[in-house]
Amino acid sequence: MIKKIIILIIIFVGVILGTYLYLDKSTSKKEAAKKTSQKTTEVVNEANKTSKGYTIQVKDGVTYIDDVLIVNKTYSLPEDYGNGLEKEVLDAFNLMKADAAALNLNIYISSGFRAFKAQENVYNKYVARDGKEAADTYSARPGFSEHQSGLSFDLNTINSSFTNTAEGKWVDSHCYLYGFIIRFPEGKEKETGYKYESWHLRYVGKDLAKKLYNEGDWQSLENYFGIESKYLD
Ligand code: DAL
Ligand code: ZN
Repeated sequence: MIKKIIILIIIFVGVILGTYLYLDKSTSKKEAAKKTSQKTTEVVNEANKTSKGYTIQVKDGVTYIDDVLIVNKTYSLPEDYGNGLEKEVLDAFNLMKADAAALNLNIYISSGFRAFKAQENVYNKYVARDGKEAADTYSARPGFSEHQSGLSFDLNTINSSFTNTAEGKWVDSHCYLYGFIIRFPEGKEKETGYKYESWHLRYVGKDLAKKLYNEGDWQSLENYFGIESKYLD
């Protein structure tokens, strides 16, 4: 009888101990999983910030940093993106054009929206003429041009002869008042990935444009946000 009781006690203790060990293991498994998922979230958050701490979001293949649409050699647009210059951009341009005209200055859009295919034609033409390496310093590959965004356009002559015209000088020092920036400023080639283009404007809105104007010493969008402009290949 005593033998039976001892065996029953041993079985009982065994079952209790086993259950305890099992529960402990599964709890620590759950905790480990929780920790891993926290870690993953942290990593994702880190990956979604620029080197200056601005938030990067990708919606339908389009990148926004601090809610500003970004297109450069690092951030591309989907092939089917865009269908013309945005109304807000045209309205701002028309105000700028009217103020310039009042000063006897004539500014006009000579290249506005360019769809993926149109950019492909432009880029291929330059590659055929100057080679890929040279073309990449002044022409964007299809999918990587701001002209596809509907937020950018080229003014007047589309070459460096525009820079020192009365129009070119006025645009350089006044476009920010209408929400535009000189997208590829002089001396910022390493940041933007492109040679200086006095004729290529990009709409970013008045607040950001004023910051980038930087009292006449244009800052690049890349430097402001802490991002790169580099093709993968
Ligand atoms: N010229 C600029 C970089 C473009 O092709 O979009
Ligand atoms: Zn342009």
